Amino acid sequence: MTCALPYANGPCHIGHLRTYVPADVYVRSLKKLGYKDILFICGSDTHGTPILLEAEKQGIHPRELIEKYHRHFIEVFEKLNIFFDHFGHTDEELNHQMSREIVLKIHEKGYIYPKKLKLPYCPKCKRFLPDRYIVGLCPYCKTEARGDECDQGCGRYLNPWELIDPKCSICGSTPEFKETTHYFFKLSAFHGFLEEYLKKMKGTSIAKNYAIKWLKAGLKDWCITRDLPWGVKFPIDERLVLYVWVDAPIGYITFTKDYCDRKGIDWKEYWKNNAKIIHFIGGDIVYHHCIFWPALLKAADMNLPYSVVASGMVKVEDKVFSKTRGYVIWVEEDYLDKGLDPDCLRYYMISYTRHVKDLNFSWKIYEALVNNELVGTLGNFAYRVLLFTYRNYKEVPEAKLREGVTSLIKGSIDKIIEGLDRYEFNVITTQFMALANYGNKLFQKEQPWTTVKENPEKCKETLYNCLQLLKAIAILMEPVMPIKAEKLWKQLGYDTPVKDVHFEEALKPIEPGRKLGKPKPLFKKVSSEKIQELIKEFEKRVQR
Ligand code: MSP
Ligand code: ZN
Repeated sequence: MTCALPYANGPCHIGHLRTYVPADVYVRSLKKLGYKDILFICGSDTHGTPILLEAEKQGIHPRELIEKYHRHFIEVFEKLNIFFDHFGHTDEELNHQMSREIVLKIHEKGYIYPKKLKLPYCPKCKRFLPDRYIVGLCPYCKTEARGDECDQGCGRYLNPWELIDPKCSICGSTPEFKETTHYFFKLSAFHGFLEEYLKKMKGTSIAKNYAIKWLKAGLKDWCITRDLPWGVKFPIDERLVLYVWVDAPIGYITFTKDYCDRKGIDWKEYWKNNAKIIHFIGGDIVYHHCIFWPALLKAADMNLPYSVVASGMVKVEDKVFSKTRGYVIWVEEDYLDKGLDPDCLRYYMISYTRHVKDLNFSWKIYEALVNNELVGTLGNFAYRVLLFTYRNYKEVPEAKLREGVTSLIKGSIDKIIEGLDRYEFNVITTQFMALANYGNKLFQKEQPWTTVKENPEKCKETLYNCLQLLKAIAILMEPVMPIKAEKLWKQLGYDTPVKDVHFEEALKPIEPGRKLGKPKPLFKKVSSEKIQELIKEFEKRVQR
């Protein structure tokens, strides 16, 4: 399992989380289904013009920039309990080696050829203008675009010489065109292969449908070199570096190898044998993962991705995500540093919509999710059951587990398994919330506070079944809210980590006589003042 590598050119934002949170939830869920040999890999993407432009802006060396944000991502992932088995970065020596080896192999097989091109060159900055160094209009949809893609318009992958009315993105000069030699990967030779491959490839509809659509539109050979001072040297012509979209996905392989070398495992088990490779990505990088990448892997005789799980995009307050226009939530500055709960953010990212839909982040919705669903339904159910049982019995009372409760839990597990098969992660939250809802109604209807005196056996039965529901909830919610799940698990009197407990365990009757921990509310309400304050800060940024 891999996640797209975050560019180490700025802090972690809410858009990133649409890749990393669901992937972490998926890995945790697979472990709960009994899968053991899962390797979860990620790392920083440290090359290409996004890095160079930002380093230039901050007046520092790219190396300094990537070290800073590499550390930042590691810290943020830890705070959000997103746990990779290995998190590397693409400027590691090992990745330079791996990228050059793979490129040499593809070259030997005849899939790389040189070509003379007339490329945009800024006479004032005295350099060629690859990718994001150049801006202009998209030749297809006429929207403002940059040299590598039409990011605000039709989303097409572009070449820098295709832009209409091009300008240097540093100084605004109109570029000249100068002749130079670059190298191309024969992507067009892989049309037939990709047609067959995409039929079998698993993944979300976004990944499959877009890829098939682009394939139908035809494939152009792909320029894989750049004239830049930073990157992996192109082994055939050291004047050039590799395009970042070559050495970045190769990072997936490098990081696997790095991990395997240290564990004494053969990395080829993953990349040359039949391991299932699953890539989690956002909907904006489908072309790279479903067209370029499988063709490169095929050319290098490597294992192909089994599945590409592409998500819908994140919007902020119903507007297209944009760092420059302020439609962004910075995970550390705007969320964690405000003392807000990491698990509540994970819950939002998973529960609010289906994985292939766009997800709108809004503080008002956040307020409602936390206060109504997490505090009002889930937290309330757990606290009232645990407090009442603790006060009256101190332990799990002896009583009969109702068939209705078992079959309800069984149904939830089945739906979760089905949902995971379709990469629908919000099925998990829907299911454990349904159990909490059911439990609340049960507790309310059977009034244990009355039966405790009049009919203690009945009271015990009510509580016992509610506790069983709580046991199931703790297990089912762990992939989404690991910290809260662990707290609930401890309050139910367990001492093994709930992270290691399989979904199936939710069906085993909770043991009578188990001593309960002291109950504490799981969730805190967010006050409306706090939400107002967060909205105000957000609005200030948008106006700037
Ligand atoms: N460096 C590349 C990926 C290379 S993979 C070999 C990249 N980096 S990124 O930092 O821009 O994005 C990292 C992940 O976050 C990607 O999966 C990307 O799709 C996702 N998202 C970044 N912004 C996003 C939104 N606004 N919405 C949803 N996901 C987006 O791409
Ligand atoms: Zn210039």
